[in-house]
Amino acid sequence: MCGIVGYIGKRNATPIIIEGIKRLEYRGYDSAGIAIINKDKKISVFKEKGKIIELERALPKPSETAGNIGIAHTRWATHGEPNQANAHPHTSSNNRITLVHNGIIENYKNLKSKLEKSGYTFSSETDSEIFANLIDFFLDKTNSLTEAVRESMKLVEGTYGIAVLSNDSPDQIVAFRKGSPLILGIGDDEFFVCSDVSAIIIHTKKVIYLQDNEIVTIKNNTFEITNVHNENIKAKVSIVDWDVSSIDKGDFPHFMLKEIFEQPTTVKNAFRGRIVEKLSTVRLGGLNMTGEELRKVQKIQIIACGTSWHAALIGKNIIEHLARIPVEVEYASEYRYKNPIIPIETLVFVISQSGETADSLAALREAQARGARVLGITNTIGSTIARESDGGVYIHAGTEIGVASTKAFTSQVTILSLLAVLLGRMKNISPVYGMEFIKELHRIPDKIQRILDKNDEIEKIAETIKDSHNALYLGRGVNFPVALEGALKLKEISYLHAEGYPAAEMKHGPIALIDENMPVISIALKDVIYEKIISNLQEVKARNGRLITIATEGDNVVKSFSENVIYIPETVPILQPLLSVIPMQLLAYHVANLRGLDVDQPRNLAKSVTVE
Ligand code: M6R
Repeated sequence: MCGIVGYIGKRNATPIIIEGIKRLEYRGYDSAGIAIINKDKKISVFKEKGKIIELERALPKPSETAGNIGIAHTRWATHGEPNQANAHPHTSSNNRITLVHNGIIENYKNLKSKLEKSGYTFSSETDSEIFANLIDFFLDKTNSLTEAVRESMKLVEGTYGIAVLSNDSPDQIVAFRKGSPLILGIGDDEFFVCSDVSAIIIHTKKVIYLQDNEIVTIKNNTFEITNVHNENIKAKVSIVDWDVSSIDKGDFPHFMLKEIFEQPTTVKNAFRGRIVEKLSTVRLGGLNMTGEELRKVQKIQIIACGTSWHAALIGKNIIEHLARIPVEVEYASEYRYKNPIIPIETLVFVISQSGETADSLAALREAQARGARVLGITNTIGSTIARESDGGVYIHAGTEIGVASTKAFTSQVTILSLLAVLLGRMKNISPVYGMEFIKELHRIPDKIQRILDKNDEIEKIAETIKDSHNALYLGRGVNFPVALEGALKLKEISYLHAEGYPAAEMKHGPIALIDENMPVISIALKDVIYEKIISNLQEVKARNGRLITIATEGDNVVKSFSENVIYIPETVPILQPLLSVIPMQLLAYHVANLRGLDVDQPRNLAKSVTVE
């Protein structure tokens, strides 16, 4: 979603902040803008609808955008369509305050009418402009930009990460947050603010993750952090432990393809150092739970959105199988408003790649408000979900840039299987069974690589379906969520309608859709349900459906009725999703690419959904 980058130092701010927002393009946006304090100590604003390249084309000659202080923004429209007027930065009506805002102001209508009564006017449809006028309003009363921000924060309901400049104090940036990420980067005689460290990582790895209700004032080559109650905050400086290479495409044409190919490594990274071979179990220290507490768990709820929700469904299968603990999986957006029942001895997990998804965060808070212990499974160190949960596990997949989540999914499933072993060994499974499972987990990265080696073959299959209008994805048992995930991947990047179904449910309705134009992508692997799914696929074939089947190596039966077969290595049934999802990811990637679409930044989507 929206992105913020700010710079204050000795260098020319414009190229630094433009480069910074380019690094945030992957998050999804529809307009971009910058504000620079120029040599005359006045704020100049430039903004355009569309991609950052449009903004760059619209900029005047470099001498007119030169200055050592600036803020920039990429906007993903919420209030008001994507156009130049609604793009950020926004400026107060009497031209003193200019700001960029991520998040949503909930009481903006009320504040707007109050400000209008005080003579302020508005030139956009955004909620963000309210903040500019509000800070301006308080500037008259406080004579300090930081104090004006503090007073404004007391009145605004909603979420925000904001960086603000003032014509009255052109030597500073003030940035502040509530519910939307904001980071201070500390360089040598220079400072950065951003909503995502990837924007500034090439300049510094020293950062402070601001907490809710905190304000940082940066001026005179130093900074001060206070909070909304005017208390001084001694913040912890963190060192970002990943490298800039992880946000480069390398030799791959798209981030998504690079991330798909990283999975042998990222899955390994998810279990590395967490397996206790001697005891046939795993160690997840970040859960902050004793063995005694874990043994008492009677029920698990897993809350997530999108692809993370699909990983949760697979986790349910694995945990119920290994640990015999009932697991409920909930959409975060439903959970937060449904008056959830959380019986005692229930452990709640929130899964989120970004750690910033607004619905997941709200669900986490709701479960905590009811006294539940909530643990996070996230990829993003220092993210809000990581910080607010009572413990958790990092998936260590490295930055995921492609909007379509791939490597995070397999890493989430890997973590959930570790959790299943941990709980299973306490409740249900023998050391021998535990060790067999762990050994098979160790073999998964090589098996993923063997599927990746079929990339060219899968591209050819994609060619055969790229002009379809619909696709049906079928799976059963633990592979049903993989069918959902396959359909989601195709939908979001190729804009083809696709649905995932449990294969046997097809005859209760969707079978009516099947004809010679309908590709049906099915998972039919050798396990206890194999014969049943073969019957389901025969029903598709009998109606001339075009079957693309993901099958176990050596299975010659499926060949006889499938248009195409993608063979994958055998594994234990509950780990199959870690393999069966790989052809789904590659197929979706190639269909979108062959259709000439923007694979990494599909239309209307954002990488991290920080609004409700
Ligand atoms: O960061 P999160 O895991 O919380 O994100 C959840 C969904 O927004 C995300 O998985 C989304 O569905 C992806 N675009 C799927 O590829």
